[in-house]
Amino acid sequence: MSPATFERKAPTEHERELLAKSGRLLPCGVRNASFTPELAMVIRDARGSRITDCSGNEYIDYLLGSGPMFLGHAHPSVVKAVRAQLEKGTAYLMISEPAIRLGEAIVEAVPCAEQVSFHGSGSEATFFAMRLARAHRERDKVLKFEGAYHGMGDAVLMSTQWTRQPADFPEAVPDSAGIPGHVRHDVLIAPFNDIETTTAIVEKHANELACVIVEPLHRTIPPRDGFLEALRQVTAHYGIPLIFDEVVTGFRLAYGGAQELYGVTPDLCALGKTISGGHPLGVVCGREEIMSHAAPERMFSGGYVRLTGTFSGNPVSCAAALAILEELKKPGFYEAVNARGRRLRAGLESLLQATGLPAQVVGEATVFQPWFTREALVDHRSALTADSGRNRKFVDLLLRRGIVKAHEKFFVSAAHSDEDVEITLAALEEALAELRESESAPPPTTAPRARG
Ligand SMILES: Cc1ncc(COP(=O)(O)O)c(C=O)c1O
Repeated sequence: MSPATFERKAPTEHERELLAKSGRLLPCGVRNASFTPELAMVIRDARGSRITDCSGNEYIDYLLGSGPMFLGHAHPSVVKAVRAQLEKGTAYLMISEPAIRLGEAIVEAVPCAEQVSFHGSGSEATFFAMRLARAHRERDKVLKFEGAYHGMGDAVLMSTQWTRQPADFPEAVPDSAGIPGHVRHDVLIAPFNDIETTTAIVEKHANELACVIVEPLHRTIPPRDGFLEALRQVTAHYGIPLIFDEVVTGFRLAYGGAQELYGVTPDLCALGKTISGGHPLGVVCGREEIMSHAAPERMFSGGYVRLTGTFSGNPVSCAAALAILEELKKPGFYEAVNARGRRLRAGLESLLQATGLPAQVVGEATVFQPWFTREALVDHRSALTADSGRNRKFVDLLLRRGIVKAHEKFFVSAAHSDEDVEITLAALEEALAELRESESAPPPTTAPRARG
């Protein structure tokens, strides 16, 4: 496949029927790669770096299930491990050997991890990390950064908005109807990468704060030199637990995640996505002093935190995770995938530059994002200057050339080959040329509207 040979087949009748049914039955619609109805698709299967729709169109996939497929889709050793576990049963509630072995592997890998708890998703992991911190500090308020996404919990679905005006710091703005009105009063919002403002908020509210939660790579915006260190310092000074949300960065930026790459160790960490390669799993890990609030012995001595669920420590997800960690530990794994990611990113950067459009790429080697703005990207408000309409067009132009990407990130996997990168760069070149052309063309002349 190349962009020259990729010709998107029109949806078959079967796919059209499925799309119509989904429109009727699934009100939130399951995510599509494009907002353009004409480009809607239903996925049939995925393998390696490729994903195929029900009409037989095969795309190179940089969405990767929103990040978890770091080894690519249906990796043979993961499929083998999952198949073997399926034969042994899929849910016990009681603890199993895969869960214990995975706990041990996480403690070895993640700098802050002394103890571990298992959950069903990244949203659950951030939710339970904050509950642990609240119990430990005996305080309720949470400080999060504007624009940071920590999943669907009521307390964190605040001030991630793209469509509304932000409020003055530290006021929180709920991002969804249905969140009880009182919740936002327990949430404080700070600007990422601005340590002066953040410190002032922490100092003012130190006695009310249960924790500070941060994506160490804020969406795709890297921390400024010294920002995470200073955040660590001020939270440690007041004894406020610092939570790293490493649902995206854990095991992706490095085997020990962002805390290894950036050299800053939080008190607690939430993991998801990459660790289990698309199998439902969320993880909280961190200092024993805080994690041990979940120990049943505390049930009668106070401070006990309930953390369990039907899928906690699910043996299939844990077996998948163990197989994935074996692959990630192979010598040269990160060097190879990072090199491929950097090559794609550098190519994207120079193609964007050649268009003369205001644009830049930010992020790390295997997770990065093009932004159509010249403004230095340091936080949510600078990201709001980007031209989202142009980005939408760009995503559609790529999809028409056989490349699937979210409206935000490019996720690169170990399954993306050099040939995939070549094909993608050629598609990017064509898509950007068309984008440029469409914008320099005079607007279509329209007949004056009849008054009626
Ligand atoms: C940084 C971060 N935290 C938490 C979550 C929530 O994870 P999940 O979708 O597994 O609930 C996401 C999901 O995209 C995320 O990007």
